[in-house]
Amino acid sequence: MKPDVLVPGIHRVYARIGSRDLFEGIWPIEHGVLLNSYVVQGSKATAFIDLVKDWEGAVGEVESQLESLGLNFSDIDYLVLNHMEPDHTGSLGALCKKNPNMKILCTKKAVPLVEAFYDVRDNVQAVASGESIDLGGKTLVFEETPNIHWPETMMTYVPEDGILFSCDAFGSFGQYDHCFDDELTEAEWELLIPETERYYANIVSSFSQFVTRGIQKLADLEIKMVAPSHGIVWRKEPFRVINHYSRLAEYMNGPAEPEITFVWSSMYGNTAALVPIIKEAIEEEGVKVHLHEVPKEHASHVLASAWRSSGLVIGMPTYEYRMFPPMYHILDVLDRSHVNNRKVMRFGSFGWSGGAQKQFDPIVQALKWDCLGVVEYQGAPSNEDKKKAIEVAKALAASVKEWK
Ligand SMILES: Cc1cc2nc3c(=O)[nH]c(=O)nc-3n(C[C@H](O)[C@H](O)[C@H](O)COP(=O)(O)O)c2cc1C
Ligand SMILES: [Fe+2]
Ligand SMILES: [Fe+2]
Repeated sequence: MKPDVLVPGIHRVYARIGSRDLFEGIWPIEHGVLLNSYVVQGSKATAFIDLVKDWEGAVGEVESQLESLGLNFSDIDYLVLNHMEPDHTGSLGALCKKNPNMKILCTKKAVPLVEAFYDVRDNVQAVASGESIDLGGKTLVFEETPNIHWPETMMTYVPEDGILFSCDAFGSFGQYDHCFDDELTEAEWELLIPETERYYANIVSSFSQFVTRGIQKLADLEIKMVAPSHGIVWRKEPFRVINHYSRLAEYMNGPAEPEITFVWSSMYGNTAALVPIIKEAIEEEGVKVHLHEVPKEHASHVLASAWRSSGLVIGMPTYEYRMFPPMYHILDVLDRSHVNNRKVMRFGSFGWSGGAQKQFDPIVQALKWDCLGVVEYQGAPSNEDKKKAIEVAKALAASVKEWK
């Protein structure tokens, strides 16, 4: 793998991570993920922006790409840590041993994290919004963007070239053979957009109000390129990803897209019996349905489609006087990510006295969901239950279409 030239003097050095591990120990990465670092060479000094962790040989890969530029880690004068999460700092301790003179630049809030995670205290310099470092013909300007998605995060901007190094913000899951948006094949685009949305829903969605605030803070910058720490570099249309993130952030409080995420689980088929009936009723109204059976499907994918959907259908039976456990997990994930203000319906079977609905009701309230109807039944659904399910499903589809 070779470094990519963003502009003369600025390169991406990066690693491809396969699909074996879970990202952050939770999220599946069936299409892998890229860890991007950047080298900025001025006439006076060289800066390195965001590290990689030692994951599938990433550190060695980045080092060999640096060597192909005639550099090595000991040539770095400034190390910029936009974000302290270990995917971008994991090799910090080893690097500080190799290059003890390198100055580390990070936000004030990151300073104690540098010490706590890596026992590094020397040569750490806190930078604040608007402060800059002159590398000679290339300037690094810092902008704090707290809580996207850790409290200490910032972005780094090079005004001479209009390049924004945004770290996790504007990132995507997935591996891409091409570095830049104007080089991507159709197949790469088909992967990139859903993998950007799934990344956003899984990693960032919980902090959507800070995404909106962060994007507002960037308004005065003349951005010509967005270079995140995961995914591709947006050179032709940097605002395509910024605007996409802006729209994704707005989904938090609804309306999102006029689509319905239908998540269901069933042990013995009594809840499952209504799945095709409800799905068909919604589709007859011309509304797109994203169907997920849990726990067969991972919460990552459910969350990604729930994030973009104005409507939710939740199907689950009662289990030990409460909600079916895999669905409880899904609802917890939706709650943590603030999938708020959705139009919903619930259905499901019970054996004797139920209990799932009693546990579901406070979740509906907490997430400010508008519940259009519940179809709960003992054992198998009767014709009456089926009729009611169709009515509620159609009302849900209509309300999702109307909600603008
Ligand atoms: C392990 C287990 C625990 C259950 N706990 C309850 C319960 O606490 N209350 C209840 O009304 N039904 C309970 N049931 C019965 C189921 O809710 C009932 O069989 C329902 O029809 C299952 O729906 P399904 O066919 O969609 O899996 C339980 C069933 C199982 C297998
Ligand atoms: Fe992160
Ligand atoms: Fe990251």
